[in-house]
Amino acid sequence: MSESLAVVVLAAGQGTRMKSALPKVLHKIGGRPMLAHVLAVAKALSAARVVVVTAPGAESVSALAKEWGAEAVVQERQLGTGHAVLATEQALKGFKGNLLVLFGDCPLLTAGTLSRLTAKLGEGADISALGFEAADPTGYGRMIMDGARLSRIVEEKDANPKERATKLAFAGMLAGRAATVFELLHKVGNQNAQGEFYLTDLIEIARTRNLNCAVVEGKEGEMLGVNSRAQLAEAEMAFQARRRRELMAEGVSFAAPETVFLSADTVIEPDAVVGPYVVFGPGVTVRARAEIRAFCHIEDAEIGRGAIVGPFARLRGGAKLDDNVGIGNFVELKNAHLEEGVKASHLSYIGDAHVGARTNIGAGTITCNYDGFAKHRTEIGADAFIGSNTALVAPVSVGEGAIVAAGSVITESVGPNALAVARGRQVTKAGRAEEIRSKARSKKKDK
Ligand code: UD1
Ligand code: CA
Repeated sequence: MSESLAVVVLAAGQGTRMKSALPKVLHKIGGRPMLAHVLAVAKALSAARVVVVTAPGAESVSALAKEWGAEAVVQERQLGTGHAVLATEQALKGFKGNLLVLFGDCPLLTAGTLSRLTAKLGEGADISALGFEAADPTGYGRMIMDGARLSRIVEEKDANPKERATKLAFAGMLAGRAATVFELLHKVGNQNAQGEFYLTDLIEIARTRNLNCAVVEGKEGEMLGVNSRAQLAEAEMAFQARRRRELMAEGVSFAAPETVFLSADTVIEPDAVVGPYVVFGPGVTVRARAEIRAFCHIEDAEIGRGAIVGPFARLRGGAKLDDNVGIGNFVELKNAHLEEGVKASHLSYIGDAHVGARTNIGAGTITCNYDGFAKHRTEIGADAFIGSNTALVAPVSVGEGAIVAAGSVITESVGPNALAVARGRQVTKAGRAEEIRSKARSKKKDK
């Protein structure tokens, strides 16, 4: 039987180095706040309790915590990482199991690595801390070993040159029995370069009590702590590379993977093909065998099996394409449901609309869904034909099998199988062009 687990996520730091009005942990990676990445991992660990430490007034941070089913606890003053963990002591009073500390600014961590960290506690370690061999350990705490045992962690600002040369960096995650962690933290002082109560000082105190502190090593790619905008961009890059690799392993083709941007929640089914330079915002599902051609921007959309989208298409705001829909270049869809086999191949805006199966939407068709005050719907039946350059002034409907002539401005609903022509009638006058030209020439001579 494995011990029950409480996860504490530290998210109260000011994030000064970000130079941002937004709390650091709300900055996004793959379109999802860093804190949400960490909470997703906590969820994957099936923790009995998840407690997020927030700063006073950080309502948006505690709201996000609650959205993920976590509790929020306020750390009244930001006196350091050790102090932050202690802020959860009251909330976790009586909790008997293990405690795992995570940082809200380490978004790339995986549940697998953390399971190895907590597993160490079942193998005789009193405290286990996550570390990694850093190519450049600048900014990280250094892990000082005594043989196989961890003897202390020293912050860079407090380290002597020899300690600084250590490449084994502390990733910020640490686990131990909850009661032990809290007890040790009460002994931590703030006599250091930053005058803070460091979580990391708990190791040295544990060692003086002959407790066994172990290091679990992880891959550097998972450990990045985001303190600055540059590190945020670095984490984004690492996240993108990982998601592309995962999707390819699941059977998705990318013509130029490094040019495709994914969101944390992007779902792409096997045998879908994604061309170069495609951006997936949040909320996208692409079904099997669909093809997304180059330069599309897609968010909040579902793309059916075998559908073809792009090049240069934009889908957003609840666009839903059923199987085998074809969306061509410079077509924008918003809150529109296109049933199976619909084609809109060129230059259209279809918003707040429903289009029945197999209907053809001609080039330049626009649903005029907004009158300056409110949005209105357009309903188009199955097997209809909308001629090029049609304006559909919503609210309006076009019945099944109806034909709308090119260049129409449709303001009244069109019944099933009807033909609607709503444009000026053409007038052709034979020879009139030449008359106009000769008149103009003689006028010019008179001057
Ligand atoms: C910390 C570690 C360092 C480690 C690095 C890994 C300490 C003392 N240092 O340094 O050893 O290598 O992370 O990325 O632990 N926070 C609070 N309340 C506070 C202070 C911080 O909630 O009073 C939160 C922050 O929001 C952040 C996390 O704790 O999510 C880490 O704080 P940060 O200031 O970024 O620590 P680092 O300097 O990166
Ligand atoms: Ca940090």
